Amino acid sequence: MTPIKGYAYGESSLEASPITIHDLDLLKKTLLWSDEDDQFLKLAGEVLKDQVNDVLDLWYGYVGGNPHLLYYFTTNGQPNTEYLSAVRERFGQWILDLCQKPYDQDWLNYQHEIALRHYSTKKNKTDGVDSVPIIHLRYLVAFIYPITVTIKSFLAKKGHSQNEVESMYNSWFKAVTLTALLWSYPYVREGGF
Ligand code: HEM
Repeated sequence: MTPIKGYAYGESSLEASPITIHDLDLLKKTLLWSDEDDQFLKLAGEVLKDQVNDVLDLWYGYVGGNPHLLYYFTTNGQPNTEYLSAVRERFGQWILDLCQKPYDQDWLNYQHEIALRHYSTKKNKTDGVDSVPIIHLRYLVAFIYPITVTIKSFLAKKGHSQNEVESMYNSWFKAVTLTALLWSYPYVREGGF
């Protein structure tokens, strides 16, 4: 498999996450996380792994159909197709990582890296593009809903029971909420996170 450009999961060059494993445990507790969520996320990974392109087509259709969102992928007001497709590759990997990777220090460090890539610290740097400097936090939070609600039909495509689909869906919802809130870190004033 060819490596994904700019995908730096587990690399020692990454900045350490400012969030500790203990903080992560408390966040998971707050999200009513249980061992079942670990199991159902794994199952979701199995169900989604050969549907990643279809999921991305849907999400990219949604972003592309909303000029106020597509804006974050533009250079001089025009959609930057190179940027869109470079990010798409990493987005696909993220779907699998969210379901399959252990939420350990490497996972936390890469969440921090992705946070910086949405914020002005590192946006555009990975792909060397000249696009707008920051993704506004309000959309980062708002995205939790579309990224969650649109996954359900894909989770239901492999013949699992309604209960299993519902459980995978809830675990996915928790996992997306967890990542989006971790990515809010750079936006928050010192001491406020
Ligand atoms: C990058 C997911 C919110 C625009 C990424 C990546 C992922 C991702 C997985 C690639 C990370 C990597 O480099 O490995 C998400 C999720 C969101 C969210 C789960 C919220 C729940 C948004 C919003 C926008 C956006 C609201 C604005 C339309 C972008 C852009 C990049 C990016 C422009 C490339 C950043 C760079 O220059 O490196 N996102 N995203 N994202 N996302 Fe998001």
